[in-house]
Amino acid sequence: MDGDVVLKDVALSTLLGPAGHLAGADMPARNRTDWSFLPATNPRAVLRPTTTQEVSSILRYADSHGVPVTPQGGLTGLVGGARPLDDGIALSLERMVGIEEIDADGMTMTVRAGTPLETIQKAAAEAGLYFPLDLGARGSCAIGGNLSTNAGGNRVIRYGMARDLVLGVEVVLPDGTVMPMLNKMIKNNAGYDLKQLFLGAEGTLGVITRAVLRLYPAPGCTHAVLCTAESFNKVLAVLSTVRRRLGPLLSAFEVMWSDYWTQATQKVPGMRAPVEIGGASHVILIEMQGLDDTIDGARFAQLLEDMIEQELITDGAVAQSLGDVAAFWATRDAAAEFANPAVIGPHISFDVGLTVARMDEFTTRAKQGLMDALGCHSVYYGHVGDGNLHVVAWVPGADPQPLSEASRIVYDIIGDMGGTISAEHGIGTLKKPYLPLSRSVEEIDTMRRLKAALDPGGIMNPTKIFD
Ligand code: FAD
Ligand code: LAC
Ligand code: ZN
Repeated sequence: MDGDVVLKDVALSTLLGPAGHLAGADMPARNRTDWSFLPATNPRAVLRPTTTQEVSSILRYADSHGVPVTPQGGLTGLVGGARPLDDGIALSLERMVGIEEIDADGMTMTVRAGTPLETIQKAAAEAGLYFPLDLGARGSCAIGGNLSTNAGGNRVIRYGMARDLVLGVEVVLPDGTVMPMLNKMIKNNAGYDLKQLFLGAEGTLGVITRAVLRLYPAPGCTHAVLCTAESFNKVLAVLSTVRRRLGPLLSAFEVMWSDYWTQATQKVPGMRAPVEIGGASHVILIEMQGLDDTIDGARFAQLLEDMIEQELITDGAVAQSLGDVAAFWATRDAAAEFANPAVIGPHISFDVGLTVARMDEFTTRAKQGLMDALGCHSVYYGHVGDGNLHVVAWVPGADPQPLSEASRIVYDIIGDMGGTISAEHGIGTLKKPYLPLSRSVEEIDTMRRLKAALDPGGIMNPTKIFD
């Protein structure tokens, strides 16, 4: 680090004040890595701006001095995207929080990028409206991180991914230019829709500082069932039945394989199994958000009765309250506890996408391939209605876990089946070596050209997604 840079860092410290510029012993340990399990790094400082103008000043400074900047939201990302570079800047949005406006007529909410997702969900509910993005990390993740990873989560089948839930953003480009794109309209075809560039870009093209989110009417009623099926073919039959019978009211279709179910309900401390799996192979969580409980509650009950009569499902626990719905989701979200040594401990996580029709083939091949080659156990669950599976894989007692060997096995199968190595978590650094399995040479080349155009100095979260 040359003297000039040290001097200018002092200038940033003056700009941001003691609470906005944390270095040395004051630097919080949590900002050194994310939920990827990758080792902590040693950034030169954690900067915590409170305004868009401060973000702009930081980026202008970093650009002119060639200092890498890594934006950070809630640090719940699973692929190392928010992990800062050694001697770089960690730019935390944690002090840029708050809801600026709710437009009930236009069904929009304008928020600052560091606002936790759960705060946004609650504010929408208090206004009698609904923000549908939801995932297990809701209490910790921030909307800027959700948009930068184009997060998926629990209700994609009905409302789409984060990209589908945002109408506008304010972004600061790597050279400090503020791009005010706080569009509030659903329809706007006036030239390129530039905001799309920054959604799912994992902080490599700019910093999102504000967003206009799309709200929906609050559901009139919510019903859920945890039911068991005897084969994956039955799971597919249930999926097509509920799609047909519930139409747009279907709000989630999540599936847990029996191997996952055992870990979640027998090993995770405090977790109870709302339904007995018996000899079934899968547990399905079906959720419906209806309009009118009298009509839609009866519709849901009849659907379940018919599926049992047609022997599509063998057993089912029906939620009697929103508390029950949350308890059902807790079994699905239990994977967040798997790192606990009392459950599985250190493990490798995958987030693959493929056509639902071939999921059974994938799980059989992956399970066998991992066990035969590495003695690696694996369990399966995920957003099956969205064609998205999560795999948790581990070799008991291995330290480190065989990340690259297991990845090669799983991704070779995914490549062979025409799937994707990342359905919703992104690439970060953890999955960077495998990007060419899911994107063509031409696509990656175009990504590089976009990156060079917007970030010629290469300071905006470099080393992430691709080199
Ligand atoms: P961070 O981890 O802080 O950052 C993620 C990426 O975005 C990094 O590359 C970072 O540089 C960039 N970034 C952050 N803020 C900004 C900004 N303001 N401007 C530009 N770039 C920025 N993901 C899903 O998709 N679906 C799930 O169901 C899901 N479930 C999860 C459950 C648990 C228990 C956990 C721990 C994670 C889960 N995730 C899931 C992954 C993670 O929560 C999401 O990717 C989330 O959207 C990340 O938000 P964050 O604020 O924590 O971002
Ligand atoms: C989930 C995260 C891991 O769906 O994406 O639980
Ligand atoms: Zn997921």
